[in-house]
Amino acid sequence: MRKYFKNPVFKLISDVVNEQNLEAYVIGGFVRDQFLQRESKDIDIVVVGSGIELAERVAEKLGPAVKVSVFKNFGTAMVKLKDLELEFVGARKESYRIDSRKPIVENGTLEDDQKRRDFTINALALSLKKENYGELVDPFNGVEDIKHETIRTPLDPDTTFSDDPLRMIRAIRFATQLGFNIDSETLESITRNRDRIEIVSKERINDELNKIISSPKPSIGFMLFDQTGLLELIFPQLHKLKGVDVVNNRAHKDNFLHTLKVLDNIAKTTDNLWLRWSAILHDIAKPATKAYNPQQGWTFHGHEFLGAKMIPGIFKSMKMPLNEKMKYVQKMVLLHLRPIVLSQEIVTDSAIRRLLFDAGDDIDDLMTLCDADITSANDKVVEKHLKNFQLVRQKLKEIEEKDAIRNFQPPVSGEMIMEMFDLRPSKPVGDLKNILKDAILDGIIRNSYDEAYAYVRQKGIEMGLTPVK
Ligand code: CTP
Repeated sequence: MRKYFKNPVFKLISDVVNEQNLEAYVIGGFVRDQFLQRESKDIDIVVVGSGIELAERVAEKLGPAVKVSVFKNFGTAMVKLKDLELEFVGARKESYRIDSRKPIVENGTLEDDQKRRDFTINALALSLKKENYGELVDPFNGVEDIKHETIRTPLDPDTTFSDDPLRMIRAIRFATQLGFNIDSETLESITRNRDRIEIVSKERINDELNKIISSPKPSIGFMLFDQTGLLELIFPQLHKLKGVDVVNNRAHKDNFLHTLKVLDNIAKTTDNLWLRWSAILHDIAKPATKAYNPQQGWTFHGHEFLGAKMIPGIFKSMKMPLNEKMKYVQKMVLLHLRPIVLSQEIVTDSAIRRLLFDAGDDIDDLMTLCDADITSANDKVVEKHLKNFQLVRQKLKEIEEKDAIRNFQPPVSGEMIMEMFDLRPSKPVGDLKNILKDAILDGIIRNSYDEAYAYVRQKGIEMGLTPVK
């Protein structure tokens, strides 16, 4: 079997299997990926018997430096070998779930084990026994399904999904990652069983969601979520973007479809997961800010501000990290209209400086988001906007080179202001700091210590303060 099965470690495991007269197989994602010619570092080995014992024997043979991590409750053991992770497990009769909290109860045969797995393409096994080394065991025609690019459950899908409802999302994840179709019975079963997703932890759902978002064309997954009715259950805020309202024959665009277009666009230019999340969430407050008036038609005033405000709640409800990643997404959502405004008006240096100041090092990511946000079907319109953004970029570059505003810290700090006027931390200190920042951003003074010092001193005096230095 191909490149990776030729790795000497498989021979070594095979030797142990023979010495102990065991039956063992490489199984699951690693085998699937061999057929798909994808690289895979996680190797699952299933043995008819004890996975832990086999892991310990293999580790012994590999030498004293190799350690085994044993997870007794799950009946699994892991051996790390450079960049490979070998996971050993005993064949089981019940559903196969690595992270199941239930301890293993019943041992089974290889076929028992294969049929309790999620999809036919994930149930392929390669023998590690000497007499049929490398032979494929494929009772559910997984290889055929790989050829026909089909995701299908080995058993009746209702059974497979009831064993672990997360598999409904995994089906959609594999379809998105691999560009496969979901078999119609499997797809119908997802629609039928969608409510069962409620018992699955948000963290597990989020892992799969992130894999969908990291795929080459993430919209495939979100369209399938919508089609099966899962979208409303796992991401209600995104579901709310669906639909078009018409008043006086005037319609706004479907913001769900627009968002997916932006997401697919950005997926072509960046692998940054959080920038992709920013694309998903950039218009999330449009339903809440939507209004119609006869002069302007449909408006979504302030959706960037409300959207940024909504981010922590969304991250919390989806059990996503409430850290600097979240803050980054918030910033992207908040600022996503700013470059558009700059591309439409006659741009002042001050406006450019303010954008550089607010975006800091994330300015390039923001421009990437703005490029992706242009989704007109009219190529001429797209071209025009992209060209305008090129001008904004050029201007940003010029101002940055001249004024070094990105990540700028005012040259006179709050402490210095307190010393200058013998003040404690108080409102006047904050006011003076803001006055100074505005003066630099507006180009009234240059970004230098001497000019800033003199300016703050003068402004303080004007406010009635007395300098002591
Ligand atoms: N599996 C399953 N049901 C699940 C999760 C996993 O049957 N809910 C089985 C599948 O046989 C799968 C194997 O466990 O191939 C390993 O699972 P995992 O490491 O999560 O996925 P991979 O298939 O390896 O894919 P990837 O590495 O892309 O996550």
